[in-house]
Amino acid sequence: RTVAVVLAGGTGTRLGLGIPKQLLKIAGKPIIEHTLAVFEAAPEIDEIIVLMAAGHVAEAQEVVDKAGFRKVSKVIEGGETRNDTTRRALDAIGEGDVNILFHDAVRPLVSARIVRECVNALWTYSAVDVAIPSADTIIQVDEDECIVDIPVRATLRRGQTPQAFRSGTIREAYRRAEGDADFAATDDCGVVLRYLPGTPIKVIDGSDENIKVTHPVDVHLADKLFQLAAAQVPRVTDHRSYVEELAGRTIVVFGG
Ligand code: CTP
Repeated sequence: RTVAVVLAGGTGTRLGLGIPKQLLKIAGKPIIEHTLAVFEAAPEIDEIIVLMAAGHVAEAQEVVDKAGFRKVSKVIEGGETRNDTTRRALDAIGEGDVNILFHDAVRPLVSARIVRECVNALWTYSAVDVAIPSADTIIQVDEDECIVDIPVRATLRRGQTPQAFRSGTIREAYRRAEGDADFAATDDCGVVLRYLPGTPIKVIDGSDENIKVTHPVDVHLADKLFQLAAAQVPRVTDHRSYVEELAGRTIVVFGG
């Protein structure tokens, strides 16, 4: 059995809208509805659990009811931090061996391909992450905003979600983390890496479109991508051929 956990416990302070960003409508629907639709349609997913920001659980439940998502079994309150929200999800799922995919509610452009590859990788691995190469150089700075290190770009990836686990692995990692007063992590693979060292964490290719709606520009981009899909303009998934076609009909005037 495979359970998708949709993490919607945050309030979107960086977007600063006064409502949790997962309730913001893009292309006519709340962001979280777009996200849930992907898991509802995925044949690999049996059940969906939603963890929503305190004070907004009823709104999330309304989204689920209106859209008629049948796989959603629970809409409950999230925790203070993202990791607290994950803990609550683990409590809600209870004992028994299941596969669990944790996904940010605010990544509505996750694809069926990514969900499928995460679930398939759990046949071989007990922990799976999704990431893309970084086009930008990543620099590490100190508290004065001065560079302290520039890691080799080819070894770096930008982590996305879902992050997928066999339940025994993620439960054990969180159980060990509980006894650590210095616990600090922003994602669930980080908890496995730190508290179950030696566990291979397989990385699946993510997608440039699987953006996390974080800043205003992300709302704009996500909205445009959904509008294109809804307008039934053939969705460009092969970006390379598209660019090659553009290059073929572009006259570049240098110095003009
Ligand atoms: N999240 C969560 N529980 C929390 C905090 C975050 O479930 N206590 C979820 C968010 O709802 C989001 C995902 O984790 O789907 C990624 O987090 P982020 O983009 O940082 O969301 P927010 O915390 O809402 O944003 P901000 O940091 O700007 O406040």
